[in-house]
Amino acid sequence: MNFTFKLLQQFCDFVQKYCKEIGSILLILYCLWPTRFASHYECITPDNIFDSLLQKTTKNVSMSQLDNCDYSDVIKDNTYMYKKTYQNDIFDSSEITLGGEYHPERCKPLFSTAIIVPYRQREKQLQAFLIYMHNYLRKQNINYRIFVIEQFDAKPFNRAKLFNIGSVYATRYDYPCFILHDVDLMPMRLGHLYACSKQPRHMCSALDKFRFHLPYRGLFGGAVAIERYDYVRVNGMSNMYQGWGGEDDDFYERLQASKIDICRFEPGYSEYTMLKHAQETPNEDRLIFLRNGHLRFHTDGLNSLVFQEKEFKLHNLFTHVLVET
Ligand code: UDP
Ligand code: BGC
Ligand code: MN
Repeated sequence: MNFTFKLLQQFCDFVQKYCKEIGSILLILYCLWPTRFASHYECITPDNIFDSLLQKTTKNVSMSQLDNCDYSDVIKDNTYMYKKTYQNDIFDSSEITLGGEYHPERCKPLFSTAIIVPYRQREKQLQAFLIYMHNYLRKQNINYRIFVIEQFDAKPFNRAKLFNIGSVYATRYDYPCFILHDVDLMPMRLGHLYACSKQPRHMCSALDKFRFHLPYRGLFGGAVAIERYDYVRVNGMSNMYQGWGGEDDDFYERLQASKIDICRFEPGYSEYTMLKHAQETPNEDRLIFLRNGHLRFHTDGLNSLVFQEKEFKLHNLFTHVLVET
């Protein structure tokens, strides 16, 4: 007993004496700990990217008599695209039809994608995004349309609800595939085709903000691709998350609850950069919401969506929907 006590006392003295050093060692160990970032995740290899995609288009596109577009070079080359100048000037803008829609003229695209962007008061980012994305996406030979869903009211920003609203408009235009996309994210490599996979796909898994590592395996935010069928199946996203954070985690839980697995492309295909901005005010209730989210999956989402359209307008580079949430 006496011996144990002495040993304990010696240990305490040691800790006290070398407190700073121990702290530093622990900090270094934490930083270097290999699983601190879940950098290794299951992913689709370049050879399998094309087969993993869901070949579905709008009816208009499917009636084309042209030969199918070829995607092998875009995927194989995976060209590095990101240049700041790419955000300044739009090339051949006459190719883009009113509302920010594009389809290749020389071949029949195999993919039709609605790109849905939740938005409020980020004018510079929106401008950079639209120019960069139209330049980037037209090189992929896909059919797409950019929907910007803008929150009109001054309530805390409701990213997930704006996606639900966007999905309603994208459905009216018959899009079978949704890409839910932050306005400040830019894909750096051309090989990351803006099409849906057969499973929902987390696209920005190698983001510069996170040192190109995936912070946790369940991260399903930023930019994700999901076919309309699956989005409807999980009742879309929750309408209840106001302010920053949690809504994407709740969406991931919805997919998990419906036994829908997600996928990712290799990090070399999933590099994104995020335009710099201040951190938005976090939603203090997000953890509580998340904890009991599963109780609301069937009652909070597309089937409970209520909003007011304040304006609907086709701009040259995007379809604009202004809404009160
Ligand atoms: N957003 C917006 N205005 C806001 C807050 C958010 O347009 O006031 C949109 C925008 O598309 C943004 C996304 O919501 O990229 C996600 O918010 P944020 O970029 O702050 O989140 P992060 O992923 O950077 O933590
Ligand atoms: C938040 C998510 C966010 C993620 C990465 C999580 O803590 O709940 O909404 O996307 O961090 O920033
Ligand atoms: Mn951001």
